This record gives sequence, structure tokens and C-alpha cells, in this order.
Amino acid sequence: RAKKAPGLDTETLDVARAAVIGGGVMGRGIAGLLAERGIPVVIRDLQEEIVRQALDAIRTRFEHQAEKKHQPPEVVAEKMARIWGTTLAEDLAGTDLVIEAVVEKMTVKQAVLEEIEPLLPETALFATNTSALSVSELQKSAQRPQNLGGLHFFNPAEKMPLVEVIRGEATSEQALATLFATALKLGKTPIVVADRPGFLVNRLLMAFLNEACLIVENGVDWLSLDVRATSFGLPMGPFRLIDEVGIDIGAEVGTTLSQAFTYVEKSSLLERAAEHKDLGRKSGRGFYRYQKGQEIGRN
Ligand code: NAI
Repeated sequence: RAKKAPGLDTETLDVARAAVIGGGVMGRGIAGLLAERGIPVVIRDLQEEIVRQALDAIRTRFEHQAEKKHQPPEVVAEKMARIWGTTLAEDLAGTDLVIEAVVEKMTVKQAVLEEIEPLLPETALFATNTSALSVSELQKSAQRPQNLGGLHFFNPAEKMPLVEVIRGEATSEQALATLFATALKLGKTPIVVADRPGFLVNRLLMAFLNEACLIVENGVDWLSLDVRATSFGLPMGPFRLIDEVGIDIGAEVGTTLSQAFTYVEKSSLLERAAEHKDLGRKSGRGFYRYQKGQEIGRN
């Protein structure tokens, strides 16, 4: 039996057919994942060429996967049979779940929603993969705002385990529960997050990336900073990460967050903890508690 979201005891809707709008970095990852996990999916983008590139990229990934796992070519064919592409909005009619992964601009997302929603069945859910924009704001353009929520995958969508499930002001419990269950079906670790700019992860991440950009603007060479970051223990430096994310997406997310939060405002949290002699591992107590050098729980 599918695990339910904490605090959500609602029956979930069946997602038999899905659509992904936008066949870019995220759209192709999400669509491939749906097909892989047995959910037939159509990818819609604006140009035939992009749709073709998205399908080619997904096929190539499936082929690499099959090669690694010593699977026959039929496995690739079977997955590819569940996925197709289109440029026509009408081809999305009849889908139970639409995941929007178009550019990070509210006006574009609103236009996509207004175009697609009238074509969908009454019960169909519409999820946005936005990185930082307000789900509640997008709901204002919806005919059925209760069917709309956020399903925020991370890049690369086929690999990263976390999915933020975003509850907009009008999102119904059933929609939220279904989005949560869908993320589980895709093999992800979903968390329900509030509709705040950048949600949870990008709020943390952008502060870090913003600071890295400021350091470079102060005259430090970006490459040396990137290299140092990996010796600091990060899997990749901030600038390699920004390249992975897409510089345009990073810029949009940065703008959304800088309008919502004052980055230069200094938190007094660390000073207050230090006054209590909570210094971290060395004092046995910081955000976590430690005994004989071992972490034993949260403080
Ligand atoms: P991208 O630029 O790679 O792809 C966007 C695609 O949307 C393009 O192929 C474009 O042709 C298409 N598009 C634009 N308007 C359209 C429309 N009206 N109908 C259909 N297709 C349309 O962008 P990416 O990186 O895939 O980002 C998509 C969304 O996912 C954004 O909201 C972004 O913030 C979010 N996201 C991005 C992540 C990343 O690391 N790049 C991670 C998680 C979320």
C-alpha cells in the first residue's frame, strides 16, 4: 500500500496518463522517469526540433542504462513505447497529471496553464516544477486551483532523490496526497513544503550561490573558488553547479529570492547559540549533540 504524506489521510487519484510541458533540462528528465516507472507520458514543447531532441536524449539515457545493466534492447523499446512527443496542446487532453517544466517566468507559466487547463478532465492535476515562484500566485490563473500544486524535482531529475511537494493556498488535500504518492511511485523521497519563495532547498542553495557570485565580484577568480569548494568537501563547486542548473534559471531564482528576502541581513542565531556555549562538535552540542565524538541526536 502506498505510503501517504504525513498528516494526509486522503484517498489519492489514479495517475494513468501524464504529460510534461517543456522538453528542456528538467522536462526530459521528468518525462523519462515517468515512462520508466510505467506511466505513459507525452512531452509537449513549442518546436518539433526540441521535442525530437528531448526524445533522443531520453532514448540515449535508457540505452546507456540498459548497457550498464546488460539488458536487451527490448527493455529500451518497452520504455520508449510509453513516451511520445508533440507540439500540439490538444494532445494533452485526457491526461490525469500535467507537470509543467517551462522557463522560470510566472507569465509564461500562467499562459501555459490558461491554455492547457480547459483541455483537461475536471479531476486532472496540474503540477508546476517551478524552482522558486509562488504556487499560490499561479493558482490565481487557474479555473480549478484546488487541482494545482508544486512538484519540484532536482537536477538531474532521474537521479536526485528529493522532490518538494508544494502546497499552494488552494491546493486540495487530495491533490497534495496524489502528488506525494506520484513522487513515491517515481522512486523519490517527497517532502511537503510550504509555498515560500525558493521553498526549502533553493532558499538554502541560492544564498550559497549568491555569496559565491559576490566573492567573485570582489575579485576572486571563479575557477579557483570552484576548485577550492570541492576540497572543502562539496561534490561540486558553485559555478559548476550553476552551469548544471542553467545560468538563466539561476538568475531568475536569484531575482525571486532577492525580492523576497534580504540577503545581507545578519541572523543572530549563531551568536545566541554561542552564548549558550553551543559551539558544535567540539563542545558536544551544536545543532546536534555529540558523545565521545559520535553524533547522538539533535539538540
Ligand atoms: P529549459 O530552459 O532547459 O527548458 C524549458 C523548456 O520549456 C524549453 O525547451 C522551452 O522551449 C520550453 N517552453 C517554453 N515555453 C513553453 C510553452 N509555452 N509550452 C511548451 N514548452 C515551452 O529549463 P529547465 O531547466 O528545464 O527548467 C524548467 C523549469 O524547471 C523551470 O521552472 C525551472 O526553474 C525548474 N527547475 C529547473 C532546475 C534546473 O536545475 N535547471 C531544477 C529544478 C527545477
